[in-house]
Amino acid sequence: MTTLGDTPAIAFARVTKRFNESVLGLDDVTLTVPRSQRVVLLGLSGSGKSTMLRHVNGLQRPTSGTIEVLGRDVGGLTGRGVRDLRRHVGFIFQNFHLVGSITALENVCTGLLGSLRGPRLGLWMYPRSYRRQALVQLDRVGLADRAFQRTDTLSGGQQQRVAIARALIQRPSVLLADEPVASLDPESSAQVLELITKISVEDHLTVLCSLHQVDLALGFAERIVGLRHGRVVLDDLADRISRAQAMTVYGAGGDTDATAAPAPTLVP
Ligand SMILES: Nc1ncnc2c1ncn2[C@@H]1O[C@H](COP(=O)(O)OP(=O)(O)OP(=O)(O)O)[C@@H](O)[C@H]1O
Ligand SMILES: [Mg+2]
Repeated sequence: MTTLGDTPAIAFARVTKRFNESVLGLDDVTLTVPRSQRVVLLGLSGSGKSTMLRHVNGLQRPTSGTIEVLGRDVGGLTGRGVRDLRRHVGFIFQNFHLVGSITALENVCTGLLGSLRGPRLGLWMYPRSYRRQALVQLDRVGLADRAFQRTDTLSGGQQQRVAIARALIQRPSVLLADEPVASLDPESSAQVLELITKISVEDHLTVLCSLHQVDLALGFAERIVGLRHGRVVLDDLADRISRAQAMTVYGAGGDTDATAAPAPTLVP
């Protein structure tokens, strides 16, 4: 018997996204991500990384093909279904998407807004149990001592850690990360990726993360998926990919023709 635990975290089946006559975001993408796998999307600007991530949490819908996330057919979800899906799918971004004028703790509390009715105006409007949960998550990302600091006075790396805590407070099964370290210096980048790795192992999180730096990707990912013009041109376990092979995603290392990339290896 198939149980929910056996279903993959993410399954794209022949997904195409056409924005208009001439612009393809995704082109016939088939990709299955098992639960608890850490996957990095690599690819040039415009290759479809963000588009792919947005399809996982229902922000965008495919033109054709199907997407299943945690056993749900995302294309068929209505507003309530999408809201429910997003409680299980955290999302972090390059620019953090935090409210700068409020404290770190309150930003983390906003991660629970999906389970609360009505707007909250100030930290003390959140139930005490929520504030306690937020503090636990801030502690996990090493920022318990900054809980009451105004968010826009934190460093970039600290702000990204607040954003991670905000995503974690929902106890997601899947974490999407769209270039989470693109705004950070090398040291903070390494810290943030180490933190995501540690949390993904502890919480059995499935991670789908776009990155621009091949070296960081090879150190962080269990699996690398390369996109070019919306197509998957590389798919293999990170420890089986050399730096030069990863670079072929960008058209480097010889021929720039998509067909010259290593034959995609489909990983079960
Ligand atoms: N809402 C949209 N409307 C029209 N075209 C879009 C839209 N979103 C994305 N595209 C196009 O789809 C293609 C893929 O874009 P996407 O943002 O996914 O690339 P990316 O790999 O994330 O790039 P970057 O590394 O610069 O973030 C691009 O050609 C882009 O212009
Ligand atoms: Mg992008």
